[in-house]
Amino acid sequence: MLVESLLYFIKPQQYSTPLDWDRIFQRQAKLAVEIGFGNGEFLVSLAREKPEYNFVGFETSITSLVKIQRKIYDHSLKNIRVALVDGQFALREFFKDGSIERVYTNFPCPWPKKSHQEKRFTNRDFAKTLGAVLSYEGTYQLVTDVEWYVRNMKDILLETGCFDLLQFDESSKTIVGTRYERRWLSEGRKTYILIVKKKNQINVERWTWGEDSMPNIHLNSIDEQKVSRLSGTIFRHPRGVFVVRNVYFREGEYLLRVVSNEENFQQRYFISIEKDKEGWLIKLDPDAPAYRTPVVKFSVKKVAEVVSS
Ligand SMILES: C[S@@+](CC[C@H](N)C(=O)[O-])C[C@H]1O[C@@H](n2cnc3c(N)ncnc32)[C@H](O)[C@@H]1O
Repeated sequence: MLVESLLYFIKPQQYSTPLDWDRIFQRQAKLAVEIGFGNGEFLVSLAREKPEYNFVGFETSITSLVKIQRKIYDHSLKNIRVALVDGQFALREFFKDGSIERVYTNFPCPWPKKSHQEKRFTNRDFAKTLGAVLSYEGTYQLVTDVEWYVRNMKDILLETGCFDLLQFDESSKTIVGTRYERRWLSEGRKTYILIVKKKNQINVERWTWGEDSMPNIHLNSIDEQKVSRLSGTIFRHPRGVFVVRNVYFREGEYLLRVVSNEENFQQRYFISIEKDKEGWLIKLDPDAPAYRTPVVKFSVKKVAEVVSS
């Protein structure tokens, strides 16, 4: 079973943002999203229970992607799509305001150390994004075994002014039936469930909406020594940074391996510098598509500026 050949695995970089979910699912239905679905038990059981919903799952683990697809395939489900992408970014960029009925996160890692805090996606920006993308009276549900974390998230959500508290309980019973829940309950830990309901809309800035064409820059000539010297160079932009990790050359084409970081959203992609009849074409390499964020667009322009002669 080839992961990418399956209907339910989507590559969001290939679509303009926000994504047209009715078109992707080929039907109009209410949307529900799970971030960090792990083995996929919860998302798959929801999709089986509620065939009237379209479910979207986001994960950063390729192993989780493979595992859930086996389950979706085994149950012949048509109402789930999954993508390998940071869930916080996806929630903000892929959905129109007021378009999601339910968002779920089960046992997200709380990243308790101060030095790791930026890895925690359930933060203030996430709460604001929920305030934008959830429909009126739409709900967000967090289930976790970590008490300080759920209390902190409750405060963050309520501080936005967008939500009413619907449920905040402690439990020693199965709520979502996932691997992490089974693990913590078997160790005698309690779990906590927090559900909030949206009452007010909030606006958040989207980084990729609007103009989504990438700069393809044509130069009559380049300084090839400057291209070689790019390796290891860091460039700064008001929104973040990008670094050219390596420079490869083969038959009239340079390929730059780039890593960008914008507010902790990291992307790895290639910029190609290709010889053509009139000179050199500098563009984002289509084989490793990146989201067209401000820093990604800037990186193509900046490379062109630096290598031009
Ligand atoms: C502790 S596991 C819980 C898995 C599952 N929900 C469960 O209850 O068994 C957390 C999951 O979140 C995923 N994850 C972590 N950060 C993420 C992010 N920014 N976006 C999407 N998934 C993420 C991890 O890959 C991992 O599978």
